[in-house]
Amino acid sequence: MTAFDVDALRLSDLQERQSIKYRAYGPDVIPAWVAEMDFPLAEPIAQALHAAIDRSDTGYQSGKGLREAFSDFALRTWQWSVAPSRVTGVPDVLTGVDWAIRLLTSPGDGVIITTPVYPPFFSTIRDIAERTVVDVPLARGVEGGYSLDLDALAQAFARPEVRAFLLCSPHNPTGTVPSRAELERVAELAVEHGVAVISDEIHAPLAMPGVEHTPYLSVAAQDADAVCIVAASKTWNLPGLKCAQIVGTERTSAVIHDRLPKEVVYGTGHLGVIASVAAYREGGPWRDHVLGILDRNRHLMADLIAEHLPLARYAPPGASYLAWIDLSAYQLGPDPSVMLLKEAKVAVNAGPTFGAGGDGHVRLNMATSPAILTRMLTQMGEAVRANE
Ligand SMILES: Cc1ncc(COP(=O)(O)O)c(C=O)c1O
Repeated sequence: MTAFDVDALRLSDLQERQSIKYRAYGPDVIPAWVAEMDFPLAEPIAQALHAAIDRSDTGYQSGKGLREAFSDFALRTWQWSVAPSRVTGVPDVLTGVDWAIRLLTSPGDGVIITTPVYPPFFSTIRDIAERTVVDVPLARGVEGGYSLDLDALAQAFARPEVRAFLLCSPHNPTGTVPSRAELERVAELAVEHGVAVISDEIHAPLAMPGVEHTPYLSVAAQDADAVCIVAASKTWNLPGLKCAQIVGTERTSAVIHDRLPKEVVYGTGHLGVIASVAAYREGGPWRDHVLGILDRNRHLMADLIAEHLPLARYAPPGASYLAWIDLSAYQLGPDPSVMLLKEAKVAVNAGPTFGAGGDGHVRLNMATSPAILTRMLTQMGEAVRANE
């Protein structure tokens, strides 16, 4: 199903799904929180999974074809040449981030993040890897867009306790896509101060038309202290199948090879590997179709906000399908998601969980049909007006 009809999506069908997006709330709530897509699975992926089931191929993963498929995809998509030997399968991106932090830093070291940022980064750094969070908030532009604060990053990199920068590129929740020049500056700072860069690029294949994603490792030196963690899971909606990849430089891939516990690699899902290979190799037309839908949705969102929530601030993301909406002008308190769930019956993510700069904001998932998106914003507008 390459060019599926997005207008054919029905909430009643979607509510049959058993994944967390549709199970966390009752049928009266439209879920727009966790980053799952409402779209039908890409046909080549569905075929590969059906074929695996038909041959009772449900054993442990062998990694067959994964490294080569990613390497070919990276070259086609970003002109980024990655030796397959530098790609290692892991169960998911957060496991990759966690192990990258453990392998490249020591307990107690400072790890930079750029808030507002994907909430599990805090707990992964603090509770799982037992490192310290060093916050360097993104800079906010006049249009409501965000960018890396390179001056503040330079200061933070110079702090003795800082040993790593957990870069989120493209950035969740703001959708910011750092430019090549910005990443080159980060790479310079990293070398100057001996700071490792761990780049979470899970949203990278979803850069919007006309927006260029630059893989961090394509600007870092071959011997840089850096890794990139990628996956097909966000772009082709496969997160439940458990397959991501860590890509290292010459230096860090040797560290991963020697020190990443084999059980971590074994935990990668067999069906995830099969689906990811199909996605990277044959998922191009489906991805193009989805990028067209998401591009229209991010602009539709701007129109819907102007119509239903005119005091809200929103900048269309440069990548992916998350809308970061500033509702602070409506004075709904630090966490407007509570009222929106109760009164608008729309489940969005709570801004304060994204750290500094999150108060008064919500994150809304736009990977759905224009009709469902319109219904969400209409209900949100009505609830906010009733609250005034
Ligand atoms: C930036 C970012 N990193 C990691 C993840 C989680 O990925 P995984 O389920 O592969 O751990 C997400 C999920 O949305 C994300 O947005």
